[in-house]
Amino acid sequence: MENHHQDFFELFATAPTASAVAPGRVNLIGDHIDYLGGAVLPMAIEAHLEILTAPATDGFAFWSDALEAAPLRFDDLEPETAPERLWLNYPKGVLAGYHERGITPPPFQAAIYSAIPGGAGLSSSAALATACALAIEQLAGVELSVAERAKICQSAEHRYAGVPCGIMDQLAIGAGVEGCAVRIDCENLTTQAIHMPPNIAVVVADTGAKHSLADGQYAARRQDCEQALEILGKASFNEISPANLEQAKSQLDDRLYRRARHAVTEIARVDQFVNALGSGDFETLRSAMAASHQSLRDDFEVSCPELDCLVDAADNFGAQRGLVGARMTGGGFGGSTVNLVHRDAAPALIDRLRDAALAGYGGKITPFSTVPSSGAFCQSITNLESV
Ligand code: GLA
Repeated sequence: MENHHQDFFELFATAPTASAVAPGRVNLIGDHIDYLGGAVLPMAIEAHLEILTAPATDGFAFWSDALEAAPLRFDDLEPETAPERLWLNYPKGVLAGYHERGITPPPFQAAIYSAIPGGAGLSSSAALATACALAIEQLAGVELSVAERAKICQSAEHRYAGVPCGIMDQLAIGAGVEGCAVRIDCENLTTQAIHMPPNIAVVVADTGAKHSLADGQYAARRQDCEQALEILGKASFNEISPANLEQAKSQLDDRLYRRARHAVTEIARVDQFVNALGSGDFETLRSAMAASHQSLRDDFEVSCPELDCLVDAADNFGAQRGLVGARMTGGGFGGSTVNLVHRDAAPALIDRLRDAALAGYGGKITPFSTVPSSGAFCQSITNLESV
């Protein structure tokens, strides 16, 4: 990891005393079911961000390498509304969550160095929140569980960023394990590391189409699902099998039926996928990813032409050249696709995706290959290290 200690010193005229690191995440399968209590299968990626901190005399100061600007200061936890200060709602929302639990860190200053592409559906904001949370715990001398910390970060998204997200991103970032995907049970917030085949690379392709989950579509999908559940008289989609839903089809209008069909089939696909990883059944991995993409595109209507273009390009690349499977990943409406591919074939797939974006929609993209990585952590910096 690049050492930013000297940069921090130049910024704040003091050495950093702690470093909190949080990775981005990519979801292998199980989208738009975390907020319905389904199980999902994301993994932490290598790209991560780091927050360096040091105690301050009063208030809070945050600086980000994503912006060419001086550190921004604040003393209260009122949500920010000025466009250039909106990103402070993540640290503020997280600070508020700790404050409500009676945990108040001393004043501090922080610098954020991020290598997670923003707006790519790779959870750069959940990584920012998680690293802030870890930094706050270090300064306050407490240690919460991964699940409790994830809840604080999720609540910051809900209340300070206005995104009614589920808890997959925060838990994936908190519970990542090197070499493994993480099966997250979003009902009871337990996690289980699932080994990934070592000869398989994960290629992530950011379409470049910007997604905004705050524009109402994400919330609208949640509402559709809640309405469908109410009509079906069930507390959770975990209680409804795809066959049950077919029997109850006449109770729902076409849109709600399709939303519900996505939920129940996606829930079923996650465990098929987990089992197929265990047995090395690549054909099931392929068909589950293809069906997931189709369901997100047609039933849940959260894909977009750029995502469909890159998934089609991967499918055309094909199993004979080493593709295992491809689908859109995350919230949708832009963002990235995730591709599983035999390691040796990853460079050729990357070229193919780059060419397809240019030919398909004039997009200049840089797909990259990554491996399942470990989750977020924080460590103190001794004076010796920081010079
Ligand atoms: C976004 C949200 C997550 C999840 C995904 C879709 O990333 O933050 O909670 O709902 O969309 O799976």
